[in-house]
Amino acid sequence: MGDRVAIFDTTLRDGEQAPGFSMTIQEKLEVAQMLSGLNVDVIEAGFPISSPGDLAAVRAISTEVHGPVIAALSRAVRADIDAAWEAVAGAERPRIHTFIATSEVHMRSKLRKTPDQVVEDVREAVRYAKRYTPDVEFSAEDASRSDPDFLVRVFTEAVASGATVINIPDTVGYAVPDQYAALVRKIIAEVPGIERVTVSVHCHDDLGLATANSLAAVASGARQVECTINGIGERAGNASLEEVVMALRLRRDVFGVDVDIQTAGLYPASRLVSSVTGAPVPPNKAIVGANAFAHEAGIHQHGVMVNPLTYEIVQPEAVGVPGTRLVLGKHSGRHAFARTLEEHGVHLSSEELERAFAAFKALADRQKTITIDDLLALARGVPQPTAPRGG
Ligand code: KIV
Ligand code: ZN
Repeated sequence: MGDRVAIFDTTLRDGEQAPGFSMTIQEKLEVAQMLSGLNVDVIEAGFPISSPGDLAAVRAISTEVHGPVIAALSRAVRADIDAAWEAVAGAERPRIHTFIATSEVHMRSKLRKTPDQVVEDVREAVRYAKRYTPDVEFSAEDASRSDPDFLVRVFTEAVASGATVINIPDTVGYAVPDQYAALVRKIIAEVPGIERVTVSVHCHDDLGLATANSLAAVASGARQVECTINGIGERAGNASLEEVVMALRLRRDVFGVDVDIQTAGLYPASRLVSSVTGAPVPPNKAIVGANAFAHEAGIHQHGVMVNPLTYEIVQPEAVGVPGTRLVLGKHSGRHAFARTLEEHGVHLSSEELERAFAAFKALADRQKTITIDDLLALARGVPQPTAPRGG
């Protein structure tokens, strides 16, 4: 098992599938160029059979974006595979990603197929896709709720039929880390020929465990993680690319693997995806949220002013964030207050500083946000309003 984990980005497919996240072809191209700059290993550019626009977007990305493998999704049926190939044929490194559901509930209620028929579809779809390209990924949809022994049978068929990547999705975000890790280990231990293929994971965040499950799977031998910028995706989203990448990078001592991502592009990537989708990033979002490198509490502010390592495990520059932000509010202390004033050219005697700081605390109790203008006014001794100002 190698020690390199491939990052498979599905922002443009699973991410775009979520309600309210659709993108134009031009926007998709812009995101795909950004993903190529990040150096992701695979861009899943879309699901070409789903609409002519999707097919056109995947085709445009395939011809214009260089570097990563460009993948297109297809159900395990010929018409989908034909459309996927039509869309990615122009790529430097095309991949067809075909899938079928393997859980009892999906096979019975959605597909209305027996397990034997599903295995037959897997064989047929992978072999058919292989006629177009050597790089074929097979996913067992709802794998984490599938019978593990049946999954071994399905993946055995996929590998024997020529799949080069097998993906074990936690489609509905139901798995928990230990159980998911054990499933990955079982598949690696029991599928003949598994050493010739890449084992991939794809986790959804319905229980808030997508990143944890992806990492547990890597610790158990998975070597491709499917994820999205800002964690966008169906329902609660997918594993967040920036979280997975930074956890693997920062905790190499635990995972012992490498990812080849230009991490300084993570924050700009997050901003781009937020702006093209119109979906704001929650302030407390790990790595890329507005508060990820912001400190308001006095003890924390003093700590990071003395040594950022006291309260920051990632250097902001490492992920492309301009720098640590000291936010002044009711929890802030004198150190940050004085430093902010000094940064704006205001140098107070200790007596003036005490007076201004007391006025600042009184204002901060009344107002949620304190602007730099408020601060400068305080420093000049201008009285502040006593009634709360919105926000
Ligand atoms: O969540 C899922 O199972 C998927 C597959 C199509 C890979 O998105
Ligand atoms: Zn998914």
